[in-house]
Amino acid sequence: MTRIIAISNRKGGTGKTTVAVNLAAELAARGSRVLLVDLDSQGHCAAGLGVKIDKDAPTAHDVFLDPRASLAAAICQTACANLALVPADQRFEHSSGARDEQRLAQALAQDEITGAYDLVLLDTPPSLDHLLLNALTAAHWVLVPYVPHQLSLEGMQQLMRVLLKVMSSSNPQLKILGLLPTMAARNIRQHRLVTGEVARQFGAARVLAGIRNDIRLAEAFGVGKPIRDYAPTCRGAQDFADLATVLLSPLDSESSMF
Ligand SMILES: Nc1ncnc2c1ncn2[C@@H]1O[C@H](COP(=O)(O)OP(=O)(O)OP(=O)(O)O)[C@@H](O)[C@H]1O
Ligand SMILES: [Mg+2]
Repeated sequence: MTRIIAISNRKGGTGKTTVAVNLAAELAARGSRVLLVDLDSQGHCAAGLGVKIDKDAPTAHDVFLDPRASLAAAICQTACANLALVPADQRFEHSSGARDEQRLAQALAQDEITGAYDLVLLDTPPSLDHLLLNALTAAHWVLVPYVPHQLSLEGMQQLMRVLLKVMSSSNPQLKILGLLPTMAARNIRQHRLVTGEVARQFGAARVLAGIRNDIRLAEAFGVGKPIRDYAPTCRGAQDFADLATVLLSPLDSESSMF
């Protein structure tokens, strides 16, 4: 069965796209057939994977504009084995398109997707709009990257309220895969304090080991390569490898981590 993971945070710049691209590449390298769907019209997933998108090519956002549009028609291959991408439409305005929260779930239920991929990762925009609601309605799991700064707590509280609403209405099967500190430094007191507070408010078992601050991750993005190919021995690559190992077990067992 194809498992769908939304990578979401209400707040911008928390490392969502960096996590989406590098986790997708890591899981694909371990043999899962992975489809990364870019729901953010910034279109950074294609850049992070070095995929050139023709300006008239079909995109993920077509399904919000046309109920007959096919996600499978928008799939592009990447340079990584087992990893395909549905790119974003950089001209899509996030306020436009159908308000139907089920639209993405229906598009992902196509045989060309369920028969071809083990995992679908959804990179979501930092907004509380119908794209985020579509992603959370379609997903089995949500992974929440956050920067361990004081301001992060409010964004996470807002996202948790949205999650509870989606869980109690359109998607009761949605589970939290984990809360993932990003750009983290364990020697910075504020990072430890904020992650302690996140654990207190949302449950210590939900907080994952995290991705440390590593400029190599930004560099890898700049040259359009996953970190495992760009700098396989750096600490960012190590952290993504560890994250994939930790996440594969609940994904395989289909049970909640918690
Ligand atoms: N662990 C990290 N170490 C160093 N830099 C990082 C790390 N994670 C992300 N970055 C950098 O931080 C910036 C924001 O990351 P990213 O684009 O992944 O965030 P985002 O949550 O997707 O942003 P947005 O909300 O705009 O979609 C980028 O320049 C990225 O290269
Ligand atoms: Mg992003």
